Amino acid sequence: MSTTSRFQGKTAVVTGAGSGIGRASALRFAEEGANVVVADVVEETGRETVRLIEEGGGNATFVDVDVSDSESVQRMVDTAVDTYGSLDFAHNNAGILTGFAEVTDVAEEQWDKLLDVNLKGVWTCMKAELPVMEAQGSGAIVNTASEAGLVGMGGLSSYSASKHGVVGLTKTVGLEYASREIRVNAVAPGPTNTNIQSSVGGSGGNPESMPFDTSAMVDVPMDRVAEPEEIAGAVVFLCSSDASYITGHTLPVDGGQAAD
Ligand SMILES: NC(=O)c1ccc[n+]([C@@H]2O[C@H](COP(=O)([O-])OP(=O)(O)OC[C@H]3O[C@@H](n4cnc5c(N)ncnc54)[C@H](O)[C@@H]3O)[C@@H](O)[C@H]2O)c1
Repeated sequence: MSTTSRFQGKTAVVTGAGSGIGRASALRFAEEGANVVVADVVEETGRETVRLIEEGGGNATFVDVDVSDSESVQRMVDTAVDTYGSLDFAHNNAGILTGFAEVTDVAEEQWDKLLDVNLKGVWTCMKAELPVMEAQGSGAIVNTASEAGLVGMGGLSSYSASKHGVVGLTKTVGLEYASREIRVNAVAPGPTNTNIQSSVGGSGGNPESMPFDTSAMVDVPMDRVAEPEEIAGAVVFLCSSDASYITGHTLPVDGGQAAD
């Protein structure tokens, strides 16, 4: 990994940075010169991301965070400011996916847990990040939504509801901060080669064998899944000055699914 200077002296916080899209994003921020706060609920994988960044010559700090817990999220933001002196970029990315089930078969505790991490978790992060960015007079936030936040997906009612919520929250907070030098956008990945995909297979089985329409989950015009680095590229673009007039937007990064 070689470092370039586009984000030199800047600080990025990435949640869910121990795996998949979050790890790719953390590595990419570091490659672009940013100091990175690697936040995850799993310490071992988060520390491995820090090791990978340091191995490449970058700066990173691990923070143990559960995004559904506002106190731990506040500690994450405090760590960024205390360690590196600012919070310039935030990729609010941590998310979970439980197995496929028709809406009447979704257990209440499963619904609550998923919404707590995927939707409330984005809110807790923005609530802690925005005051710091506002005091600085600048900042850019990217939330991870999903293709399931743009269209319905049979068998994924709680996940789809959470991601539609992320899209709505992104639009709204984007508007609220549009005149305050803070941009808020989202990426909507299509199927991406990460551990989350196996969590669906593990508890819910193959989407192609489900008794409802899951085509939006499996049909990709480009005929392949994304690699996490392809999502990370869109995240750093949205944080960069190349995206200086973009806010409140959700960018599909989905091999053409949203156009289908
Ligand atoms: N992989 C896909 O196909 C896909 C598609 C669309 C959207 N997404 C979204 O991308 C995001 C990242 O997922 P991924 O695919 O990289 O999965 P992943 O499972 O590889 O990574 C998710 C990371 O989030 C962490 N995490 C889970 N709960 C957390 C919590 N409460 N607090 C802090 N960290 C927590 C996990 O420990 C893990 O490191 C998620 O929001 C997911 O919904 C993924």
